[in-house]
Amino acid sequence: MAEKSIKDEVDIRRAKIDDLAAIFHLGERVFTSQEFSNLYRTWDEYEVTSLFNMEPDLLFVADTGERLVGFAMGTMIEKARSAWSYGHLLWLGVEPRYARSGVGSLLFERFRDEMEEKGVRMLMVDTQADNYPAIRFFRRKGFDNPTDHVYMTLNMQRED
Ligand SMILES: CC(C)(COP(=O)(O)OP(=O)(O)OC[C@H]1O[C@@H](n2cnc3c(N)ncnc32)[C@H](O)[C@@H]1OP(=O)(O)O)[C@@H](O)C(=O)NCCC(=O)NCCS
Repeated sequence: MAEKSIKDEVDIRRAKIDDLAAIFHLGERVFTSQEFSNLYRTWDEYEVTSLFNMEPDLLFVADTGERLVGFAMGTMIEKARSAWSYGHLLWLGVEPRYARSGVGSLLFERFRDEMEEKGVRMLMVDTQADNYPAIRFFRRKGFDNPTDHVYMTLNMQRED
């Protein structure tokens, strides 16, 4: 008989309050600050608790029954003077041990279905330009039109 894969064992469900610590700690392993030094969002406890507070419908976990092995969380954006609503997948992470076994796809599909139900017309994702695995992942999911974005900093401590 064929061996069961993690994909068959995992339940993709909405996050509950008791999951928040596990999500945070998994994120600490997945989004290491060096690799994911995004200027406008950093992975911290507040990111998890505030998204859970504001958009509890859009926070999903992959649960084996024993532990959480992934999560997806996002937000919806309504723009003034636009009939369209947008969805932003902010964080998608899979326990590195289970990478490439389909868990990310299950989480993404659940997130996309939820967005579709809410009437979202366009989904957005963003990641570092050199995060090739994620870019490949999102391309496989149908995302295209990658756009460069430049971050600049001004050191406010510097005396000229
Ligand atoms: C990106 C990420 C969520 C993918 O999760 P995953 O469970 O490994 O993805 P899947 O197994 O469902 O992969 C689906 C497809 O994506 C592509 N892909 C995923 N990981 C890849 C990798 N490391 N290299 C190249 N392609 C990859 C492949 O096309 C893969 O299909 P295949 O295995 O049949 O070739 C996971 O690698 C991760 O947590 N990365 C760190 C955090 C991150 O970058 N998140 C995204 C930005 S928020």
